[in-house]
Amino acid sequence: MVQDIISRFKSLYGSNPSVFRSPGRINIIGEHTDYNEGFVLPAAIDRELYFAAAHNSLNKFRFFAYDLNSTTEIPCDQIEIQKKETWSNYLLGIVAQLSKKGFKVSGLDVVVGGNIPIGAGLSSSAAMECGFIFAIDKLFSLGLSTIEMVKMAQMAEHEYAGVKCGIMDQFTVMQGKADRVIKLDCRSLDFSYEPLNLGDYRILLCNTEVKHNLASSEYNIRRLECEQGVKIVAGHFPEINSLRDVSMEQLESCRDQLPGKIYDRCSFVIEENSRLEQTCQALEKNDLKKAGKMIFGSHDGLKNKYEVSCRELDLLVDIAASTEGILGARMMGGGFGGCTINIIHKDATTYFKDRIIKEYYLKKDLPHSIFEVAIREGTNQIQ
Ligand code: GLA
Repeated sequence: MVQDIISRFKSLYGSNPSVFRSPGRINIIGEHTDYNEGFVLPAAIDRELYFAAAHNSLNKFRFFAYDLNSTTEIPCDQIEIQKKETWSNYLLGIVAQLSKKGFKVSGLDVVVGGNIPIGAGLSSSAAMECGFIFAIDKLFSLGLSTIEMVKMAQMAEHEYAGVKCGIMDQFTVMQGKADRVIKLDCRSLDFSYEPLNLGDYRILLCNTEVKHNLASSEYNIRRLECEQGVKIVAGHFPEINSLRDVSMEQLESCRDQLPGKIYDRCSFVIEENSRLEQTCQALEKNDLKKAGKMIFGSHDGLKNKYEVSCRELDLLVDIAASTEGILGARMMGGGFGGCTINIIHKDATTYFKDRIIKEYYLKKDLPHSIFEVAIREGTNQIQ
């Protein structure tokens, strides 16, 4: 794959590129907690994008998306949001952030491509943003710190993709470490690398192969709903700044003033943070069963209280719940489509795959997309 991208670069632009790799991510548990200053437990994976990139002297950006066979060519000072080649907005969003900080990016040729399924909740967008800012930092010797790059990549998503995302995806893509999950405190950004000793269990993703188009609008609405909840609770407890600070008792004491949906959203976030804590403790004690139970609990909350699941995700989780050898399964990422994550015994994978194919993909006439993932290093330079 990477060789194909390098060859394409050479044949398109005729120079020798530097090469960077930027992975997708999974999240074990802790969904929709990042923008509420809570905790997440993600990891970078072996699904990745490759960037071949080199300077040009044309004062132009020449971008080529290998998998889409699509080109964008624009002068370096015209970085408006693109209506047609929307994939290039993730790159232009980075240039815009850099320019806000006073960094001028001049002519650059890029070929980008890889094997992160798009719209599958694996953060192909964060992989684009992070891979690109990492490449620019190296090619232009900007000397940015990792956390500066993470934050600019997050703002690129806010401003050029219109999703007011939290920091989990960009943080994980940049900071991932092989065989480790990241326990990240999204308020302080303190983090630790934790081993994930799954023994005979594997991480298997099932892609629904659907992405309902309310995903980004509903995402931004959830964020506002949480803020609304915080405002009401803070009216009684002025020390409160985010849902991270709110206890279940405090939430209950304000229940009369909280509209039903807002109460549900807030209680989900509080419970999800607690499930994450319990999962970490269970993993430490090698109690995989308990961790799996928390993961199923997370899906239940995302479906019924946070309302970001969909029929397809629920069906995949229901099949998982009735399959022996699966400890936990849930939707992953923003929701309304994308993948489920399943913690499954290695001996159960063939049977489960067959079931999913029969009971989901064939019934819905969708391409089959079930795959194991391994935990890998974050964004890096490979050549
Ligand atoms: C998307 C966002 C993240 C996070 C998840 C939900 O992936 O980009 O910041 O909020 O949804 O946990």
